[in-house]
Amino acid sequence: MPLTLGLDFGTTNSAIAAAEDGQVQLVRFPFGPATTDTFRSVLYFDPEEQGPDRKPLSTAGPEAIEHYLLADGQGRLLQSLKSYLASRLFKATQVFGHKYTLESLIGLIARDLKRGAVAQLGTLPARIVVGRPVRFVGSREEDSEAETEEEEDVEAYALGRLRQALANAGFPDVVFEYEPVAAAFHYESRLTRDELVLIADFGGGTSDFCLMRVGPGVRARGRQRSDILGTEGVALAGDSFDSRIIRHVVAPLLGRGSHYRTQGKLMPVPPWLYLRLARWHHMSFLKSRETMSLLDGILRGAEQPARIAALIHLIDRDLGYRLYQAVERAKVALSTSEHSRVVFRDGPLQLDEPLHRADFESWIAPELSAIEQAVEKLLTRTQIRPEQVDSVFVTGGSSLVPAVRRIFANRFGQDRLRSGGELTSVASGLALCGQ
Ligand SMILES: Nc1ncnc2c1ncn2[C@@H]1O[C@H](COP(=O)(O)OP(=O)(O)OP(=O)(O)O)[C@@H](O)[C@H]1O
Ligand SMILES: [Mg+2]
Repeated sequence: MPLTLGLDFGTTNSAIAAAEDGQVQLVRFPFGPATTDTFRSVLYFDPEEQGPDRKPLSTAGPEAIEHYLLADGQGRLLQSLKSYLASRLFKATQVFGHKYTLESLIGLIARDLKRGAVAQLGTLPARIVVGRPVRFVGSREEDSEAETEEEEDVEAYALGRLRQALANAGFPDVVFEYEPVAAAFHYESRLTRDELVLIADFGGGTSDFCLMRVGPGVRARGRQRSDILGTEGVALAGDSFDSRIIRHVVAPLLGRGSHYRTQGKLMPVPPWLYLRLARWHHMSFLKSRETMSLLDGILRGAEQPARIAALIHLIDRDLGYRLYQAVERAKVALSTSEHSRVVFRDGPLQLDEPLHRADFESWIAPELSAIEQAVEKLLTRTQIRPEQVDSVFVTGGSSLVPAVRRIFANRFGQDRLRSGGELTSVASGLALCGQ
């Protein structure tokens, strides 16, 4: 079988894999003096450098983070762009006076991913297999149960934009596959007998599930689409967990819940500021002239001026990414330890707050319950009882959160839980889909 290519464009991390004669290799990207097989889905615009078209120069992935940190937070760093694909509100954004559509921004990330693949593999096949979540972020009202026509429209809209972004990057021929189905192909490559497997992939933006028959026997008799018994997805994952930490630990220290005096009246500091802050990829939108002048007014009458000054500093200095990293680090540490700390220091912003796993688990209870419900829905719809599931393969970065794993251990039994390839299983599986 000739070489096939799989691209997992993730909310947080992307990866590319190639398969040939059933063997998979991951593309490695330069990262300082070393290389890495995961590519942060971030885009950095340098304020100083311009291309021949006088547009700001961009870099993506690990290089983007290096440039951003070297520039001491100057410039613009964009991330979690995948979460906007279904949003008709986000058509374009201004970067240093130039307009960029979402498709062009994602295209710039995909262009650098492609460059890495070409460097390692030489000529790429014309057609590539690209992952898609079962449900895009923003494609369904949180409280709506029904799959509506409107939702199908939104899905088509999101896919159309992703297709355009990939075409912009030089991938004109794209076949989409559900990300958890791809993860099933990765899981299958280690099997010596057929299984009915539940795949649960927890990423940055979405949690995706599928029930599927896989194994050497299935492969030998020829795969059928009916081997996929069902798929399900919720638009909640690691980014939502981070938002909870920002909301409970960080936002109060930046003035959430406090008041300020204006025209003789005591007013609450507007909560929407903190919603933007918690959905940290919205943070860069806070730096508008209107919001900054609103914040100046709040600072003048603030009950707790030091907290508002810290908030202004955070927004004005574009410290969002570094704060996000501090929060993510504390969250990741909680996966192996009962306690950690959110530590972030820059000028008037001095955070060093304890974080306890038990609190974190209580804050993410709504997300955990949505995940449980999605799994139940999949079982009900496919009429599969938990005992019929041979194994549960949990993957994706957020599958390392103990409370997430516990859902599956409790429902299916610890002995049926399998894991691995957290950040690369989808890319590997997409390449195998191509085979
Ligand atoms: N050890 C860990 N404990 C908890 N969370 C983790 C850990 N490692 C990574 N994560 C989280 O996993 C998420 C990234 O996972 P992954 O790379 O699988 O997502 P993605 O594929 O980019 O997103 P999506 O599939 O939603 O598009 C981030 O939210 C990250 O903070
Ligand atoms: Mg993923």
